[in-house]
Amino acid sequence: MTDEELRTMISKTLTCRIDKRENCEDKMNQFLKRCFYHSGQYNSEENFRELDIKLKEKEAGKLANRLFYLSIPPNIFVDVVRCASIRASSTSGWTRVIVEKPFGRDSESSGELTRCLKQYLNEDQIFRIDHYLGKELVENLSVLRFSNLVFEPLWCRNYIRNVQLIFSEDFGTEGRGGYFDHYGIIRDIMQNHLLQILALFAMETPVSLDAEDIRNEKVKVLRSMRPLQLEDVIVGQYKGHSKGAKSLPGYTDDPTVLKDSLTPTFAAAALFINNARWDGVPFLMKAGKALHTKRAEIRVQFRHVPGNLYKRNFGTDLDKATNELVLRVQPDEAIYLKINNKVPGLGMRLDRSDLNLLFKARYPREIPDAYERLLLDAIEGERRLFIRSDELDAAWALFTPLLKELEEKKIVPELYPYGSRGPVGAHYLAAKHNVRWGDVGSEDS
Ligand code: BG6
Repeated sequence: MTDEELRTMISKTLTCRIDKRENCEDKMNQFLKRCFYHSGQYNSEENFRELDIKLKEKEAGKLANRLFYLSIPPNIFVDVVRCASIRASSTSGWTRVIVEKPFGRDSESSGELTRCLKQYLNEDQIFRIDHYLGKELVENLSVLRFSNLVFEPLWCRNYIRNVQLIFSEDFGTEGRGGYFDHYGIIRDIMQNHLLQILALFAMETPVSLDAEDIRNEKVKVLRSMRPLQLEDVIVGQYKGHSKGAKSLPGYTDDPTVLKDSLTPTFAAAALFINNARWDGVPFLMKAGKALHTKRAEIRVQFRHVPGNLYKRNFGTDLDKATNELVLRVQPDEAIYLKINNKVPGLGMRLDRSDLNLLFKARYPREIPDAYERLLLDAIEGERRLFIRSDELDAAWALFTPLLKELEEKKIVPELYPYGSRGPVGAHYLAAKHNVRWGDVGSEDS
């Protein structure tokens, strides 16, 4: 690629978020002029030395910081870090490296990766990205909890019956089968994105908003959790399905996936935090590809009102009368609380209504993409939304025994049709813990 080709490519996705008085086009052009393309081999120190020379030319003696973003296959992370740190570190400013998941496949390989990276980098140079932490609603979770009096007092086992963390996509692996088949949905979504949300949701009030204080609290949650066992989990895999004239492929129809692959594309799990705040409260996770909808949300189901005066207005299904708080991470970011309300009129009919904060109605401006926030944070050295190595170890410790067992026992995933709501096993798992999935069978499903 030439510099010009690179600039044309970038300009198609570049977003301008500047003060209205400035001219976006000028600003973008100024930025694009500073983008250059340099090619080389991942493991060639010589090629990185050439990169260093080129960078020094552009830096022209100014104080220069360098941020390497490793958007590359995981098997070459360490080679690149070695070459970059030895041959192309900044001599005047800082050098940081952003690493994308997968951070290993289990406790062992993740530990090994951390050890290798630390041969060349200090922990404070490593920025492990989990882009879900950069999503607006996930950032807002702590604001909701800690800056509103009405939520935090209820945030415990006395009032919350269960918490659900749901991720669904309405498309399959589509071309990413080669990567995905080696990892599966538990490693792809649960062990990182959903677990990170869970830790933020359940942590105690941090001493301050400092990265270390927040991450200390998250680690405590992870370390208080019971490692997952086989009976806490169900796994599924999507199969081909015809919808009218349209034929939707099964997971194993992907040419990069083995025909007899047992890799789960769907999983549901029940997790528990053994501490005073959350003892006995099921945290249910559900993640799947090729489902009927694309959505990510956190649902908090509250307990029944003791001695509810309006019991008879709800018939036998008292569950319908419990409050539920939903944080819809995507699409259409929203926070809504389901409350019981009197239907206006002379009778006494009750109805469930939503107190609804729909972001696009309240804040019409566009919400920045998660990566925009995270890149800016990495440049500013703000580590709050990045994963520390002890957090990563604790996250793997929860999932590794289960992942090993699934593989050793060759557990066969329950098949579900592409575009469906996933395997029925997810309902049995929830029922075992006296839970009904909030995204199924309700008015907002
Ligand atoms: C990635 C997973 O981390 O997150 C993908 O590897 C998944 O499989 C993606 O599709 C979802 O991210 P988003 O931001 O589109 O919800």
